[in-house]
Amino acid sequence: MATREIDAEKPVERAAKKRALNIPPVKVGDGILHDQEKYYSREFMDREWESLWSRVWTIAGRLTDLKRVGDWFTYKLGKESIIIARSAEDRIQAFYNVCQHRGSQLVNQDFGHSMSFVCPFHTWTWNIDGSLKRITDAETFPERTICDKPGLSEMRCETWAGFIFVNMDDNAPPLSEFLAGLPDAMALYKMEDMVVVKDYSVNWPMNWKISLDAFMEGYHAHARHPELVRMIDDYNFDYEVFGNGHSMMTIPMWTKSPRIPERSGLTDELRLSIQSAGMDPSEFENRQADVRPAAIEARRKWTERFGISIEGMTDDQVADDGNYNIFPNITLNAHPEGVLVMRFLPHPTDPEQCTYDVWVIAKPGSDPEYEMPFYMAVPPGTDLTGEGPRPERNYVEHGDEGLGLVLNQDGDSLPMVQAGVKSRGFRGVRLSDQEVRLRYMYEEYDRYLKGEK
Ligand code: FES
Ligand SMILES: [Fe+2]
Repeated sequence: MATREIDAEKPVERAAKKRALNIPPVKVGDGILHDQEKYYSREFMDREWESLWSRVWTIAGRLTDLKRVGDWFTYKLGKESIIIARSAEDRIQAFYNVCQHRGSQLVNQDFGHSMSFVCPFHTWTWNIDGSLKRITDAETFPERTICDKPGLSEMRCETWAGFIFVNMDDNAPPLSEFLAGLPDAMALYKMEDMVVVKDYSVNWPMNWKISLDAFMEGYHAHARHPELVRMIDDYNFDYEVFGNGHSMMTIPMWTKSPRIPERSGLTDELRLSIQSAGMDPSEFENRQADVRPAAIEARRKWTERFGISIEGMTDDQVADDGNYNIFPNITLNAHPEGVLVMRFLPHPTDPEQCTYDVWVIAKPGSDPEYEMPFYMAVPPGTDLTGEGPRPERNYVEHGDEGLGLVLNQDGDSLPMVQAGVKSRGFRGVRLSDQEVRLRYMYEEYDRYLKGEK
């Protein structure tokens, strides 16, 4: 495919284009990042655990997975396993998944329902609210060993937009403060109304940040996603930052990459997009520029038909992919009808592996003709009513088909990055303005690692 040589342009022309990139008015550095060992060193991994993971708010799961009192699920964050439970109608609690007798884990399932947790080793038992229920043969323990009636160890737990966040640090700021400007920016998507319709979890052979980095920039799309750049503009993103490391970029859809020199014709991918919006591609042959305005109108009608609220949304929010990042490890590709949620988690012991979780959450709808648009990659026939059981969690291996074409294209290339950053010949990371969100995110990351947060 032909590509435009953007980098080779004269500086003054490049400066004009830089303004067109809509870089947020935020001060970020411009130097080479020389700390590439953060992608592979065990020492860095330990520092990350102490300074970041055990101090920051992270998403454990969705409120819709705790509908009834007694519902619980587990969340594995590095070396910790955490139980999140609905202990009362109006109460969600998070506990370390560990028995206070000799430290066995209490449960090893992803989801469960029970009013108590019975340790599988010697059957000590806790109530769903974490209080001690029973010590087997209590009379055989010295009084001073058990007189504190040990409850489960609890950690902080708060919710926003249907997401349940946990934090191991009792001194961390409240979630609303941590999220800074993000909730206002995302309010119109009404994610609190969405239900889980797809749930994949993959073990990926690279550091969690190698994976995350790739989902915070569109710069690699022309190289890694040839199909995608025939249906998005991969160059003219808008970027915004919200404080505390959170940021977003708007990915223009219903148009093709400016790297493709021929401007007026359609691509097969655009024809598919047009069709999926209920329009006739033949009406737009050689009228590429007309696709986007027509798609915005069609999208507005489509959302109205299925009762999806877009009140107050801009055309960009209706038509484009709003790619948000919740520091440190979440990306959300937001559309009015649903959000592709990605969660990047550190491996318990190996800095060169991570867990890559991919969920789709969607506004429920009971009309039999209601389907997720093709770009959400939700299999046809998926229950979108929100009334049935939540989908099974699919565990897939790196390279398996289940994730879909685009995400597998990312998965295929990233082990080469993991291998390359370890080279003695690699002299540091050089970031463009198209990768400004990485710079913004790593400046916050550095503040945590230096203990300034
Ligand atoms: S380790 Fe849990 S009851 Fe013994
Ligand atoms: Fe990608």
